[in-house]
Amino acid sequence: MKDSKLGSGAFTGNKDNGNPYSGDLDKGILYDIYEANYPVIATDGNFPRLVSAYRYNAEKLIQNLNPVGKGRVLDVGSGTGIATLELLAQNKSQRVTGLELSSGMLLVAKYKFHKAEGTDLLSYVTDKKLLDYWEEFRAESLQYKDRVELLQGDVQECLEINSESMDGAIANQVMHWTELSKSFGKIAQVLRPGAEIVWNSASHFYNDSRFPVEKYGFRYNGFLAKVLEDVCLRGGFDLPDYTSLSKPKYDFEKVRETTREQGFTTTQIGTSLQQVDFQVFIQNHVPVLVKQLISPFLDSEESDAKIKEAISRAILDPEALSDTKHKYEIVPTFRSVKHE
Ligand SMILES: C[S@@+](CC[C@H](N)C(=O)[O-])C[C@H]1O[C@@H](n2cnc3c(N)ncnc32)[C@H](O)[C@@H]1O
Repeated sequence: MKDSKLGSGAFTGNKDNGNPYSGDLDKGILYDIYEANYPVIATDGNFPRLVSAYRYNAEKLIQNLNPVGKGRVLDVGSGTGIATLELLAQNKSQRVTGLELSSGMLLVAKYKFHKAEGTDLLSYVTDKKLLDYWEEFRAESLQYKDRVELLQGDVQECLEINSESMDGAIANQVMHWTELSKSFGKIAQVLRPGAEIVWNSASHFYNDSRFPVEKYGFRYNGFLAKVLEDVCLRGGFDLPDYTSLSKPKYDFEKVRETTREQGFTTTQIGTSLQQVDFQVFIQNHVPVLVKQLISPFLDSEESDAKIKEAISRAILDPEALSDTKHKYEIVPTFRSVKHE
């Protein structure tokens, strides 16, 4: 199996359990700052290579896609265009339609694909790494720019896409932000008969029978538990239910049944264990996850400071560092084929 190290994003802090990427431009910029800053190690050849995290996920996902024709492929939840570019680089279709809910994410994608609407963006951004990353992306995307259409919309709602016009679809790290019955219902309308969507998900959504989330998932890490205990003890409030950090609602049977009802046959075609880099874990995940759990007890600024102090103590505590098992984001990959 290919191997990678992944920081699964600074975006786990999803307070209202809705889409954490919503509306504003900052979200698109933050997303790409993350992509520009935390490369993962791809060890799929004789030599490792460093590749940005979502791009690597997209690369592996899209390798599995078999469109029924060479016309058009739909990129569901196309975000800032990372998987969109990968679809074109792998030459999966002549044209790609990106469908994205968030106007901020979409605007960034437009800039990265040389669309006129995106150019204002440069007046907001000064981050050197981000600008370099965008420059590289734009150099690669230039050859494909006229083959891409970027639409704003919710995949769960009425799609302004012609019925049965898509030869295939992908969704890279998207479907867990939607209600599967609704999104698959709409995707069924736009795919040609016999066409497929390949999609992946995450361990806060799906419990993989081979790698149960409680046994391997990074949200159950002992270091995180120590930080949480420390903050609660010193703050004088009860320890919140630690297991509530990740209680996936889906297993394979539920995915298969929900998608079957919308006219698909789904198989799980793989799982990848993406090791969360410990530095990234401490810097990005621990503060967000602990904060989520203690938010009923402390206001935001107070909790930031307390969490920081607790992390400094845990770093020096051999017991807090002893958990070497819970360090993976468990990413299942599925193929859902629309019935003929
Ligand atoms: C983790 S990002 C992945 C972005 C992109 N697929 C990539 O590979 O980088 C998830 C994206 O799904 C989008 N999304 C979430 N719910 C959606 C919905 N109901 N309809 C369309 N897009 C949605 C979010 O706005 C966000 O851009």
